[in-house]
Amino acid sequence: MARLWPLLLLLVVAARARPGADGTCPERALERREEEANVVLTGTVEEILNVDPVQHTYSCKVRVWRYLKGKDVVAQESLLDGGNKVVIGGFGDPLICDNQVSTGDTRIFFVNPAPPYLWPAHRNELMLNSSLMRITLRNLEEVEHCVEDKPGTHFTPVPPTPPD
Ligand SMILES: *[C@@H]1O[C@H](CO)[C@@H](O)[C@H](O)[C@H]1NC(C)=O
Repeated sequence: MARLWPLLLLLVVAARARPGADGTCPERALERREEEANVVLTGTVEEILNVDPVQHTYSCKVRVWRYLKGKDVVAQESLLDGGNKVVIGGFGDPLICDNQVSTGDTRIFFVNPAPPYLWPAHRNELMLNSSLMRITLRNLEEVEHCVEDKPGTHFTPVPPTPPD
């Protein structure tokens, strides 16, 4: 039995070093993901934009359906691109497990305004902060539950959620 330990350790290290590569990506708890993201929204990918030549990630234009958190953050920092669209960067980030989208995908996005060290490339963009989440009633309820646990958060009216 003792001889198996190095092998087990190696497997654990390999799984962590290559997030998502073997389908068992270690994702942080939802509560933690919600806390780390200043903005959580549902939206549909309308267009794949530029690829970041340094980070090897790409950005997308996303039509927002609903803010679960941080609508004021987006409004204040003039991140809106013509009414109800935002640009989200960081797709393909190897630090994020589920990090890929195609045009037409509707997801829950956990994002933060791009910090200044990512300017000018990502100026006025939101950056993906953790894995994309599929829109199901259960997922929405779980995310809302995390947001509601915090004092001082507000909800926006609920437009109909498009089918996934
Ligand atoms: C997510 O946001 C937190 C800050 O809230 C930051 O420390 C962390 O590095 C971000 N993760 C990614 C993958 O950008």
